[in-house]
Amino acid sequence: MSQRITAAITAVGGYVPEEKLTNFDLEKMVDTNDEWIRSRTGISERRILKGEGKGTSDLAVPAVLELCKKRGIDPVEIDCLIVATVTPDMVFPATANIVCDKIGAINAWGYDMSAACSGFLFALTTGAAYIESGRYKKVVVVGADKMSAIVDYTDRATCIIFGDGAGAVLLEPDTEGYGVLDSLLKTDGSGRQYLHMKAGGSVKPASIESVTAKEHFAYQEGQAVFKFAVKGMADISAELLEKNNLTGDDIAWLVPHQANLRIIDATANRMGLPSEKVMINIQRYGNTTAATIPLCLWEWQEKLNDGDNIVLAAFGGGFTWGATLVKWKKG
Ligand code: UT7
Repeated sequence: MSQRITAAITAVGGYVPEEKLTNFDLEKMVDTNDEWIRSRTGISERRILKGEGKGTSDLAVPAVLELCKKRGIDPVEIDCLIVATVTPDMVFPATANIVCDKIGAINAWGYDMSAACSGFLFALTTGAAYIESGRYKKVVVVGADKMSAIVDYTDRATCIIFGDGAGAVLLEPDTEGYGVLDSLLKTDGSGRQYLHMKAGGSVKPASIESVTAKEHFAYQEGQAVFKFAVKGMADISAELLEKNNLTGDDIAWLVPHQANLRIIDATANRMGLPSEKVMINIQRYGNTTAATIPLCLWEWQEKLNDGDNIVLAAFGGGFTWGATLVKWKKG
């Protein structure tokens, strides 16, 4: 028995809104078609959070409550809650504060993590470090984004990709070698020009001009991001395997960020993994930014076995990217 404290994932929760936005719906909104979207991205439909006054916390709350129910804990037992998101309810306070208030996690502290599509991996690695330090016993890591709030539904290059959703995991100490074992995380801010929001921050506060120029929507140069993403996600996943003396044969599942099926395929090929070992739900949810990886875990958790080695991998705006090795603990 190892005495090293690791952070085991002991429960998973997820939530997607009921409302679907299909490729056929988008055909009526912009000059696109179902065949183009499916062949270029793998997406058929996404979920959209509708309703006045609803934000990312409304996606996160049901995911966290589900996780608590599954683990049989009360939210008051949560020590720390981190929300990875680029679509916070407000610029401040943090969505984590709002989630804690809504679920009654009165003993938790928390904050938001802004690392776009890699946000869940960055937050997971941070949350795991809190557990490994021995300081906290129950850390909740949420990946949640209401991308529909920052998507321009007249821009066919971006509106076809994104959707809304949330996923959450509970981290608890383990001394048997389960949980988050290693992470390689990277940022390169020189890539920010290819994927960002032009206005609404301190450089360019909201103005009538910025609204008129549609600068509060996600701006993406798709081809450039694609090129970096294919290389970045595949390279870092291969590097993680090598660092841990593992090959594709040792990996039960790849849990890739769901941005584009072609990026996922490139990563799986590079790791020597057949498609049966890759979690893919992009066809139903699109790119939910920080939520893609926990939503996969949520959907696949019944298929995961005790001791499975799984690799989580992401690439996104920033640029940010990374890969995390997890040994699954069957609760
Ligand atoms: O998750 C965060 C990180 N983000 C990513 O990883 C996204 C990475 N990028 C991508 O996934 C892809 O670049 C997109 C899916 C965004 C776009 O696919 P693409 O194969 O790179 O298309 P493209 O931008 O090179 O456009 C090819 C053609 C263009 O027409 P012309 O110039 O060849 O005549 C576009 O105008 O397809 C056209 N096009 C469309 N046609 C129909 C662009 N969007 C659409 C559309 N429907 N929705």
